[in-house]
Amino acid sequence: MKQEVELEIFEDPRALASGFALWFYNFVNSRPKTNVALSGGSTPKLFFQVLSNEYKDRIDWSGIQFFWGDERCVPPDHQDSNYLMTRKNLFDHIGIPSKNVHRILGESDPEKEAQRYGQEIGDVLSHRDSLPVFDLIILGLGSDGHTASIFPDQMHLLQDAGYCQVAIHPDSGQQRITLTGKVINQADNICFLVAGEGKSGVVGEILNKTGDWEKYPASYIHNSGGSLHWFLDRGAASVFQNG
Ligand code: 6PG
Repeated sequence: MKQEVELEIFEDPRALASGFALWFYNFVNSRPKTNVALSGGSTPKLFFQVLSNEYKDRIDWSGIQFFWGDERCVPPDHQDSNYLMTRKNLFDHIGIPSKNVHRILGESDPEKEAQRYGQEIGDVLSHRDSLPVFDLIILGLGSDGHTASIFPDQMHLLQDAGYCQVAIHPDSGQQRITLTGKVINQADNICFLVAGEGKSGVVGEILNKTGDWEKYPASYIHNSGGSLHWFLDRGAASVFQNG
């Protein structure tokens, strides 16, 4: 079944962050209890800051279970930690109950942590077709077409039977823990947040199905039966719009 992609294009990264924060506010406020897997990297940082500054008292945070789509295998106080970025820009400002934060333990043995986190999401989430179902997964996009920590040289992670696996950043060699493609595609709602001219080429190839689109892991993210949204700024959308 062909999936409709819902696309929203914003003037700049700040407008993208504000626009997605409004979408997120409406999403969580329509669900008394929900769960979300956050992405890492720099793009979500502005989104977290908008949530902290403008939605702190407008959302019942106690009803949201926070997970991550991936984490770097570093301690939670390391500059590369996705948890640290989220904590500094969101959790420290909204007072989220610790029981609502399901951190990937980047400081642990990667193979053991991939298994442990897979068990945790399996225990906490409901299941459909024997896979855990996230209400919402927020994803970023690398300029090489990776998403979460599924990189073009590790496409097998799209089909891996596990819920989580160890990935290796192809440039830095840094180990990561990532949700696998099957779990990502099982989510009820998936939202890509992509900003910047540097991403426009890969966005254009993926959404237009041109060039090297088949080599990009993000090309294989689609949750038939669910909703798939791309939130872009004008920079990231420029090639897509011009074909
Ligand atoms: C990570 C992310 C990764 C990220 C993209 C885009 O842990 O880095 O999960 O998939 O979303 O690399 O990163 P930027 O938002 O920094 O461009």
